[in-house]
Amino acid sequence: MSTKDQLIRDNEDMTRVGPGTAMGSLMRRYWLPALRSSELAAGGSPVRLLMLGEKLVAFRSPNGELGVMDHRCPHRNASLYLGRNEEGGLRCIYHGWKFDTSGQCVEVPNVPNGAQVCPKVKTTRYKTYERHGVVWVYMGPAELEPPLPLIEVLEADEGDLEIEFAQRECNFLQALEGDIDTSHLGFLHVGNIVPDDLLPQDPMRYVVANRAPELEVGDAPWGTSYCATKHTPTGGRYLRYANFMFPCWTQAPQGQFENNLFARAWVPMDDTHTMSITLLWKKRGNLFRTMANGEPLPGVSELRLLPNTSDWYGRYRTEQNPRNDYLIDRDAQREDRIYSGIDNIGVQDQAMTESMGEITDRSREHLVPSDMMIVRTRRRLLQAARLLAVEGKAPPGVSDPFVYRMARSGDMIVEGSDANWKALYDIRIREAVRLGQA
Ligand code: FES
Ligand SMILES: [Fe+2]
Repeated sequence: MSTKDQLIRDNEDMTRVGPGTAMGSLMRRYWLPALRSSELAAGGSPVRLLMLGEKLVAFRSPNGELGVMDHRCPHRNASLYLGRNEEGGLRCIYHGWKFDTSGQCVEVPNVPNGAQVCPKVKTTRYKTYERHGVVWVYMGPAELEPPLPLIEVLEADEGDLEIEFAQRECNFLQALEGDIDTSHLGFLHVGNIVPDDLLPQDPMRYVVANRAPELEVGDAPWGTSYCATKHTPTGGRYLRYANFMFPCWTQAPQGQFENNLFARAWVPMDDTHTMSITLLWKKRGNLFRTMANGEPLPGVSELRLLPNTSDWYGRYRTEQNPRNDYLIDRDAQREDRIYSGIDNIGVQDQAMTESMGEITDRSREHLVPSDMMIVRTRRRLLQAARLLAVEGKAPPGVSDPFVYRMARSGDMIVEGSDANWKALYDIRIREAVRLGQA
């Protein structure tokens, strides 16, 4: 097989998430965040939920129980999304069949002796778990249900997390890669900023003083890690750490290492749409968002979302999107007020990853050392997916949720030490704020 053919095949295996695919099988071994609890009112309207290429219906029955199941009624495939959310289950409005939250058919009222049919009919349903105002779903084999991942930010007290949902119109992997791609920071987000624009104590100074960081990358129990280093004028180092965590989580480096409790899931809706779910600890330190002149950093407005609709792709769409070119302001770009011309940091990332095409063609890339983290993460994901497909080996974190416990991202300034990035990480994580069991 030629190198190009191999790259194309790898890309297929890394990006396709439907039932029976290599990556889809890997994703189905984990609990994944899916909805806001507030989307599902007890006895309220069901919600169309697209996950891993499967069209599902989610609902909360009048007594508060959650149900997530195939949206097609097992009788003749009419959509249960249109169904009646009744006491004891969801009733198909076509012929009245009713399903409880375990997916069991409990009424077949359109034939005499329908009760005899019920035990033979059970629809595909998935288990749910709810915490921090987020509904999680497990879509894998029931007998292989894993524990919840022990990602530290999830140990925060109820009410201490800020949660953001936003949809991306591209494959999960290229969306995820945007979060572990350190060298774009100095261009896409702050390309027009110079050190003197910033407050003296703002570490972003080091980013804009040298836009080509030294990058070190390694495997970690939870996935992969990198450290991007800049040297300070006083002979110290400014280090930025970030992680990829199985199966689709990132920890971006924005924030002080000692209290930056943060994680973001890039949950595939299907092969070409992704839901990002960001979990932020409210008590983490403030990010610098102000320049030396007191003005906000350019392009840091709040993310604006369109109202949710009931469409399969109707949840958490951004107001700036490919159909309006992200409201790019060419004057702001030309005049260097906003380097990209696009307002909002998240939308800047969104524009870049969506503009690559729904599934980017990785066989035509020209990768350089700044892409090491991305290359390593692809390899780690691909290897895990193939080991699962060929040998049935469970991917990282599935049988040992503790692999996530020491994962932390953030930045630090180090003076007077020549310890390497991994040693410094180990020292600082012991000194850092920790939640949950150590
Ligand atoms: S299709 Fe649902 S009851 Fe007939
Ligand atoms: Fe970014």
